[in-house]
Amino acid sequence: MPRVENINNKIGNFKKSITVPGDKSLSIRWVLFASLAKGKSIAKNLLMSEDVLAAIEVIKKLGIKVILKKNECIIFGKGVDGYKYKKNLKIDAKNSGTLGRLILGILINSTDSIQLVGDKSLSKRDFKRVTDPLSKFGAKFKLTNKNFLPLKIIGSSTLKPIKYYEKKGSAQCKSSIIFAGMKADGTTIIKAKKSRNHTELLCKHLKLPIIIKNKKNFDEIQINKVKKINTLNYNIPSDISSSAFFIVLTALSKNSELVIKNVNINPSRIGIITILKKMGVRIIFKNQKVYKGEKKADIKVVSAKNIKAINCPSELNSGAIDEFLVIFLVAAKAKGISYFKNIGELNQKESPRLKWAQKILTLLGVKTVTTTDSIKIYGNPNLSLDFNKKITIKNYLKDHRVFMTSVIAALTFGGKWSVHDKDSINTSFPNFLKIINKLKND
Ligand code: S3P
Repeated sequence: MPRVENINNKIGNFKKSITVPGDKSLSIRWVLFASLAKGKSIAKNLLMSEDVLAAIEVIKKLGIKVILKKNECIIFGKGVDGYKYKKNLKIDAKNSGTLGRLILGILINSTDSIQLVGDKSLSKRDFKRVTDPLSKFGAKFKLTNKNFLPLKIIGSSTLKPIKYYEKKGSAQCKSSIIFAGMKADGTTIIKAKKSRNHTELLCKHLKLPIIIKNKKNFDEIQINKVKKINTLNYNIPSDISSSAFFIVLTALSKNSELVIKNVNINPSRIGIITILKKMGVRIIFKNQKVYKGEKKADIKVVSAKNIKAINCPSELNSGAIDEFLVIFLVAAKAKGISYFKNIGELNQKESPRLKWAQKILTLLGVKTVTTTDSIKIYGNPNLSLDFNKKITIKNYLKDHRVFMTSVIAALTFGGKWSVHDKDSINTSFPNFLKIINKLKND
């Protein structure tokens, strides 16, 4: 497969119904919970991407049996303290921050030293944000240059519960502490700025000793020692973050309409829907259902006519944190200046995404004013590139979302694009280009 995707034409109009793969956050969490349950758990529609396969490899190294079939994954968990592994174990989270951070919480009571490594991108990301609070339980860590992977964890068999204030709105930090709290004697108390709450919902569904109090700007979570986790059969709904690229593609294309089936619409994940609706994009949820505590629906979106600029309220940030790159493309075509603030966390992702947003928008000829934690986008409702305009996107640390955002920009604004490192999509959305081609041929 050539590594560069060349796009030379805008997409034509389409009217289709599509299904995108399973949700990444839920898939990784299911793998981890199933590994800690006692007995056989089965998942259907598990996302088969590199991040999830990395999670499966990690639990296999920790002594858990996994059978992967075409349409299902079976995990034979050995209980909360059932991991068995050889001395000086090395585990690899590859590109996945979620896996790397959550597994550290689970390994908090593993007294043999374990080394955690990751790929080039993950090795540039901050791990101190989880090792600092995890140390307070009694575990020891050795990080590279005090912040980074590779790191070593030496857990403790006598863990003290902690009080922790999560201020970044990071579900990875919050979830890591919830997992660690399940292993400490006593009550761990977490005050957490709002962020995706899949871990809490799974704990509740599994009837684990968790209490959640939802306050206006934060959640208070109490978690006690867990003795047993029941097996968990789960049919994973589709990923709203993968859907986001197609929502924006439809909004920015002419005379088009798209239905995306069976998508997880957990209220802590639908910031993109609220933001785009405020900007004048018509999106509706159909067939809404609740499944094991999670909301899901079909999402219908149609081409947008008059896109309005937005002064994006900060409280929407964490619910749209993975979608901002593609949301910025909508702002590029809006009437007026859009402003997104308090989004410094974007530079902590698989690549420094705020910087990449500025680069891509500049290549599109859109004026931006960027600081370390905000961006102003000067929209142009007539934005369209000369069909000869050459744009190359490369050296972006293989950030899957930079690749997919660039493809959507090429298909909606025109120009001659060469987007490198096409294999980056394998981390979250391996059949992304296949679905694009389906819409191109409509
Ligand atoms: C995730 C949480 C978010 C998000 C990531 C997945 C999760 O990261 O960006 O893609 O599954 O918990 P942070 O918790 O660092 O904000």
